[in-house]
Amino acid sequence: MADEMLDKAAQVLVDRGIGGPFACAMVLGTGLGRIADDLEDAVSVPYADIPGFPGSGVSGHAGRLVAGRFEGRRVLVYAGRAHYYEHGDPAAMRVPVGVLTAFGSPPLILTNAAGSVRPDIRPGGIVAIRDHINLSGANPLIGETGDARFVSMTDAYDARLLRRFKAAAGQCGVALSEGVYAWFSGPSFETPAEIRMAKTLGADLVGMSTVPEVILARRFRIRVGAISIVTNMGAGIDGAAPSHGETRDVAATASTGLRRLLKAVVGGLEDV
Ligand code: HPA
Repeated sequence: MADEMLDKAAQVLVDRGIGGPFACAMVLGTGLGRIADDLEDAVSVPYADIPGFPGSGVSGHAGRLVAGRFEGRRVLVYAGRAHYYEHGDPAAMRVPVGVLTAFGSPPLILTNAAGSVRPDIRPGGIVAIRDHINLSGANPLIGETGDARFVSMTDAYDARLLRRFKAAAGQCGVALSEGVYAWFSGPSFETPAEIRMAKTLGADLVGMSTVPEVILARRFRIRVGAISIVTNMGAGIDGAAPSHGETRDVAATASTGLRRLLKAVVGGLEDV
């Protein structure tokens, strides 16, 4: 896709009165969209009005971009994301991620709901993602030409952001684990055998999002961090049989802790 689309998207946002600099951008995952309501002086634009932004049809995903003040800092919030499983397009979030370059490339904080494959990380737990395993076979950079596509993923998850997450968790009293996220395409959930495989391969969490956005962020040289809310144990662990309804409901309930954590993270972002 030509990067003219990024310019067009940026222009629409500027025309709506949205301008940088931003302390950070955040993508809100399943059941977490309500965090967008915490913004002050908010300007909200439906994805449908922004060129190259995805339509978002999954329940629990609002599909709007909100600029506003969070803990006194200007932030850009993506309430809703597009998933690979919706249309088979791993680059569905290319423009929402890439457009950040028009606003000074603020750090990007991704959130999601995930299943746990680790017995000590239970539903309701919050986990900072340290690294990932791409089990989908897809990549949002397939089809790009030129050398920018050969993105290093060695230090994909920004070390300074990860330290900020941990410091913020300590400040606000939220228990935060750290783990490796395995990306399955979805939309079907994993089989118990696939969950055992993910565990054997070194994953702590499984999920259907985030990884393409991390790859895109690194493509655009945007610093990125990611935090999961654990909504369930992986299929077959302690008899778990995850469902979308459970994922959405548990994420909504557990989002209080994540909201507190994000406030503490953003409140101290000048240190990052
Ligand atoms: N698997 C994949 N994606 C998920 C899960 C899961 O168990 N829970 C929340 N998102």
